[in-house]
Amino acid sequence: MAKDTLTVTDNRTGKTYELPITNGTIKAMDLRQMKADPQDFGLMAYDPAFTNTASTSSKITYIDGDAGILWYRGYPIEELAERASFLEVVYLLMNGELPNAKQLGEFQGLVTMHTMVHENMREFIDGFRYDAHPMGILISTVSALSTFYPEAKNVGDADNRRLQMVRLLAKVPTLAAYAYRHRRGLPVVYPDNDLSYAGNFLNMMFKMTEQKYRPNPAVEKALDVLFTLHADHEQNCSANAMRSVGSSRADPYSSLAAAAAALYGPLHGGANEEVIHMLQKIGSVSKIPEFIKSVKEGEGRLMGFGHRVYKNYDPRAKIIKKLADEVFDAIGKNPLIDIAVELERIALSDEYFIKRKLYPNVDFYSGLIYQAMGLPMDIYTVLFAIGRTPGWLSQWEELLIDPEQKIARPRQVYLGHQKRDFIPIDRR
Ligand code: CMC
Repeated sequence: MAKDTLTVTDNRTGKTYELPITNGTIKAMDLRQMKADPQDFGLMAYDPAFTNTASTSSKITYIDGDAGILWYRGYPIEELAERASFLEVVYLLMNGELPNAKQLGEFQGLVTMHTMVHENMREFIDGFRYDAHPMGILISTVSALSTFYPEAKNVGDADNRRLQMVRLLAKVPTLAAYAYRHRRGLPVVYPDNDLSYAGNFLNMMFKMTEQKYRPNPAVEKALDVLFTLHADHEQNCSANAMRSVGSSRADPYSSLAAAAAALYGPLHGGANEEVIHMLQKIGSVSKIPEFIKSVKEGEGRLMGFGHRVYKNYDPRAKIIKKLADEVFDAIGKNPLIDIAVELERIALSDEYFIKRKLYPNVDFYSGLIYQAMGLPMDIYTVLFAIGRTPGWLSQWEELLIDPEQKIARPRQVYLGHQKRDFIPIDRR
């Protein structure tokens, strides 16, 4: 009869072990009993970059990379993008269920109430150079928030935790917009609590001298959907950073600053900015074959393509591509879209990309929408960070209440020198 176990023979000793299989995994600690001799430390799994290691169990987000499926708490991303607002999705991620109208109203009220940041923060931002990258400002100011809320370090207190989570959801867009205004040399705009989450963000970004800022409904809706598409993506590089730092029981502001720092890299959230640089560099449809050739020869990557988990079309990229058409209809087309569409077509029919299962990811089309909205390139990763904040927070809280979790502390395989004698400086 079939059993949920794995039988392993250690050929060093001839011993056979039977390891339980639970949820499609064996426990790495079950390997430790396999020793070459009694002094041996025991077998470990070697997995740089966690390519085949589950670091946690989770009930938040499900991805089937081969089928191109993404669910938040069991709901397909396509349905959430079409039918739910971003704050409904945030509530879902944080609480496990969609809110009813009363719960959503209360949650919206809470988030709105906390959108302002201490005036010290403005002075703090003023200290940055005029051309400071907004991600650098965001990472620093999110981290600085911990000094305003020292009680946040009581991460074991559920109510206190929730308060800090709401504060972060509310204040990250404010800090992001302040970073952008600083970059432009413009005075900051305070939050407008009459507007939606996305509408208020646009207000803080773009309001000039008008009495009341009224966001373009198509842009407001598109931004809301873009936030939803970025809201969580299970154990990616930044979620892993959030969990790893959070596992030491650091406060959520410090943990989220670490997650945002991980996001900043060009292989993660920084890719949306890189895609626009790449499309601009290509310059015209006629230059695409030449560019593809250079990628295949190893002279750089096709940014916005490829994914560790998706070996099929990223479902978020499909939604964004459609959304781009709607935004362009409302506010005018981004001329780079023609290059992007043709680049995708050529890449998807090229043996190099087919063989490696490289498809467009979330970052391939998002920058094109942001650019059409009049947003400068260095704010794109910041927009990703705003959308991802509820995911980071949900992952962080799940970690804290998971009895199986401890401080994150990977092992290593030491391949350095054995013990040797110190050499005084005059003899080196
Ligand atoms: N262009 C050209 N070749 C690629 C690309 C690409 N974008 N991505 C992967 N490859 C090749 C890579 O050279 C390797 O080829 P070979 O087997 O001949 O050495 C093969 O495909 C496997 O690549 P990998 O680097 O082992 O794959 P990974 O899972 O470690 O990396 C990735 C995933 C997303 C870092 C990578 O695909 C990449 O660098 N993409 C471009 C950057 C990007 O768009 N990042 C955004 C990711 S999605 C949103 C997010 O997470 O923030």
